[in-house]
Amino acid sequence: MSSLVNKHILLGVTGGIAAYKSAELIRLLQKSGAEVRVIMTPAAQEFITPLTLQALSGHPVHTNLLDPEAEAAMGHIELARWADLILIAPASANFLARLCHGEGSDLLSTVCLASHCQIALAPAMNQAMWAQASTQENIDKLKSRGNKIFGPGQGYQACGDTGAGRMEEVDALVEQVAGLFSSNLLSGKKVVITAGPTREALDPVRYISNHSSGKMGYALAIAAMEAGAETVLISGPVNLAPPEKISVVPTVSALDMLAASLEAVKGADIFIAAAAVADYRPEHSAGQKIKKTDDDISIALTKNPDIVASIAALENRPFTVGFAAETNNLESYARKKLVGKNLDLVIANDVSNQAIGFNSDDNQVTLISSEQAETLPIMNKASLATHLISYIAARVTGV
Ligand code: PMT
Repeated sequence: MSSLVNKHILLGVTGGIAAYKSAELIRLLQKSGAEVRVIMTPAAQEFITPLTLQALSGHPVHTNLLDPEAEAAMGHIELARWADLILIAPASANFLARLCHGEGSDLLSTVCLASHCQIALAPAMNQAMWAQASTQENIDKLKSRGNKIFGPGQGYQACGDTGAGRMEEVDALVEQVAGLFSSNLLSGKKVVITAGPTREALDPVRYISNHSSGKMGYALAIAAMEAGAETVLISGPVNLAPPEKISVVPTVSALDMLAASLEAVKGADIFIAAAAVADYRPEHSAGQKIKKTDDDISIALTKNPDIVASIAALENRPFTVGFAAETNNLESYARKKLVGKNLDLVIANDVSNQAIGFNSDDNQVTLISSEQAETLPIMNKASLATHLISYIAARVTGV
């Protein structure tokens, strides 16, 4: 079975007899590595209880739009941002119609309106309802807006009819969901990405570092791999598991990261510097632990080499992308980095906002190149990484 490791799947369950299959669907999505949160419509709760799906997903099931308790924990906007994919299975004829018309009449339809992520639907209904011109028109409209429709299958129906309208089998559904996360946008290309902080040693037990968690760089590496690229991830010290199918080169200091980058970038098409590299390191790293005395001490710092600028200066340089972590004057400082480091693209993020940037699950960035400045909406780092990799792939391949 394909991998959905670390993917956030928001499962919407609507009213229909196939709602009982969502229990098995949750289990299979989780077996593929996905984290699953569930929203049920009132009609879905007539077929299966929220308690069952809570026990299987390991998280409270969301049922009400106007629930102060739920909003205080993970409200509808957070749920919308959390999701990498909204999967609605089963999707009733009624829900298809409401989604089609942009209604926000319950929690699930409101989350769909508030989200920037892909929506996939597994319709399930009586064969005559599926065949109705109104349902088919709704399906065509939803497809034309980029929503994915899985199924329905043919066969015997719970109501005694036979025909099209059965919900897609759950194992086939999970395969198709996994397929949504892969593309050939970067097949045949090599992508090198730096991630995380660097540590600059003061002595054997102390160092200078920063709050980068590596989440942004790791998400980019996963998105590049899913786009078909041979991916090398040069990682500073982080607490993240090495992603599957990606070659991870662990590093500690800026000097280590520079050496690893120069080696990895041979034959690369794209270099993305998401790491938060220390601009300075202690001039001398003490061989033994520095002892406390009654006096103040000063530490002399020396400048670290600039990794992304060094890559951009290579003769056969890859398409070179830097990040800009700024607390003010975002666009003008980022533009200075674009020119000063001779980059093809700068991805600027406002790290003064604790909800985005360093060590957060979400980020919001402005893409800055010589031609344009485009601000993307706030979204989770995995979804953002997919957007960024598609954008970079289009710039590199011209497709
Ligand atoms: O890791 P997370 O917790 O998910 O947080 C993500 C992030 C905020 C770290 C990431 O989105 C980000 O902004 N990374 C760049 C952080 C940074 O160091 O920005 P900067 O403006 O100081 O550097 C500009 C660019 O030069 C960056 O691409 C940086 O990698 C690169 N650089 C900087 C210094 C240096 N000596 N060598 C470099 O290559």
